[in-house]
Amino acid sequence: MVEAVEAQNTAQRAGQIQELFHKEVARRRTFAIISHPDAGKTTLTEKLLLYGGAIDQAGAVRARKHQRQAVSDWMALEQERGISITSTVLQFEYQGHLFNLLDTPGHQDFSEDTYRTLLAVDSAIMVLDGARGIEPQTRKLFAVCRKQNLPILTFINKLDLPARDPLELLDEIEQELSIRAAPMNWPIGDGSDFQGVYDLPGRQVLRFERTAHGKDRAPVAVTDLDDPVLEAMIRPRAYARLRDDVELLAGAGAEFDRAAFLAGELTPVYFGSAANNFGVEPFLTALRELAPSPGVRQSNQGEVAPTDEQFTGYVFKIQANMDPKHRDCMAFLRICSGRFIKDMAVNHPRLGRTVRMSRPHRLFARERETVEEAFAGDVIGLSNPGIFTIGDTVSSGDPLHFAPIPRFQPEQFARLRNLNMAKYKQFNKGLEQLLQEAVIQVLYPIDSARREPILAAVGTLQFDVVVARLAAEYNVEATVEPLPYSGARWVLADDEQLKDAVWPAQSLRTRDPQGHLVVLFNSPWEMNYCLEKNPQLDFREASDVGVSWAAPGKEFSNRRA
Ligand code: G4P
Repeated sequence: MVEAVEAQNTAQRAGQIQELFHKEVARRRTFAIISHPDAGKTTLTEKLLLYGGAIDQAGAVRARKHQRQAVSDWMALEQERGISITSTVLQFEYQGHLFNLLDTPGHQDFSEDTYRTLLAVDSAIMVLDGARGIEPQTRKLFAVCRKQNLPILTFINKLDLPARDPLELLDEIEQELSIRAAPMNWPIGDGSDFQGVYDLPGRQVLRFERTAHGKDRAPVAVTDLDDPVLEAMIRPRAYARLRDDVELLAGAGAEFDRAAFLAGELTPVYFGSAANNFGVEPFLTALRELAPSPGVRQSNQGEVAPTDEQFTGYVFKIQANMDPKHRDCMAFLRICSGRFIKDMAVNHPRLGRTVRMSRPHRLFARERETVEEAFAGDVIGLSNPGIFTIGDTVSSGDPLHFAPIPRFQPEQFARLRNLNMAKYKQFNKGLEQLLQEAVIQVLYPIDSARREPILAAVGTLQFDVVVARLAAEYNVEATVEPLPYSGARWVLADDEQLKDAVWPAQSLRTRDPQGHLVVLFNSPWEMNYCLEKNPQLDFREASDVGVSWAAPGKEFSNRRA
């Protein structure tokens, strides 16, 4: 009898837990914004936060750039360059839903960091400038989203300025990005003639009026396009154009299809003006309604559902020295399933032991608050005294691994020189930290007299970041000297195979912090020559070598061949 009651209680508790998990997962939206610099990502971010009550001051972007930084911009280097270099995680609530906005750096040179962030979200917003359409950085970031079939919502911004023909913009999205575009609203005029948008599924006009504080005007409901109220409201030329366009769209078969959106094959498109706060709230509502909640993730132990009772998560970002007052390091963990509870002990398979998840933080730019509990889709910041590295998976149950985070193939190389040898300790410490954050890859020449590290990056701005951060955070003066190499190959081979290797005279052999042999080449011709001459060796690209992001630790010292 007692056993039966106990069994019933247990079943009841399990049911309650499942109910809670389902509720919490269903209300979460974890997303990132992709755009070309200047399209309006910062402005849109601020407006979304404003609606979510996460900030209470509009912080008009003009004021931000000239007086104070936007809430998500805080590093000195960012301020200097006016670009967003480090990603931050912003959480806000809106209409009962919880949004996790993973901010991505805006500059194209930071694609590695952005790439890792885009692996950690469930959907993305693509912001386009209405006058410019698709720009190079949009294309690049879109390709990353596409690769993982991420659902994407599009916001075409700056309609208060002269913009391109909306049909042409849709056509460009479809042609250049090979994704179907489904307009959800339609602009009425643009620039000085911008009068609002027509909400296609809702069949109502949202009127735009320039106001001092850029508040949305209440929508004016209109039942159909022939309604005389609408005709009287907007200028005749724009009205005629709207009618023509809507008719055209109806025949074009560009309706929204949820399944295609979730598969990353169709993007719903919204027009508006972030700076004027026009169209932002309907867009946020769309994000709530359309964007998916956290989904199933693949692991080496099979599928992990967000509502699974077992807690799992993985580290997608490491960031040191966020607070200049406390020299600390933070690991950002994306929760994939179960419930995170402060101080819980988890399995850390890479270390082969359990670790306690103490001092978990929710971050809001510079501010932190302690997290007591979190669910799938949330991102928490953990103080990281060298325990976590990018790609680490933790779980409350059986040890498992999520798919490894691939590395990018470096294309730029430079020698890093410490200008004050007396500070070699700080220099090494700083470089080690930047490696742990995966800001850059480092290689050491194996057979030259010079022992200075070689930086390997996707773009040259990463070199400037290393120099600036060594100076700002470690008080070390360093310079970079560009090297002529344009390509690298990791070589997997044993000593026997290496014995007969033939190396082109101008190539440079180096080792990465894990001890792999890495050869740098001056030209594709030289690389091909080397590959042909050494059929016994296994040449690989960085993403293909199974190199982990593991902190180099002791191995950081130069290793000889
Ligand atoms: P980003 O993060 O994508 O790089 O862009 P950001 O939001 O910083 O916006 C880039 C510029 O575009 C800013 O102007 C911003 O005010 C402006 N902007 C953003 N949305 C709109 C819009 O809907 N309409 C108009 N007219 N402008 C918009 P800036 O001159 O670079 O800076 P500031 O002088 O405004 O501070």
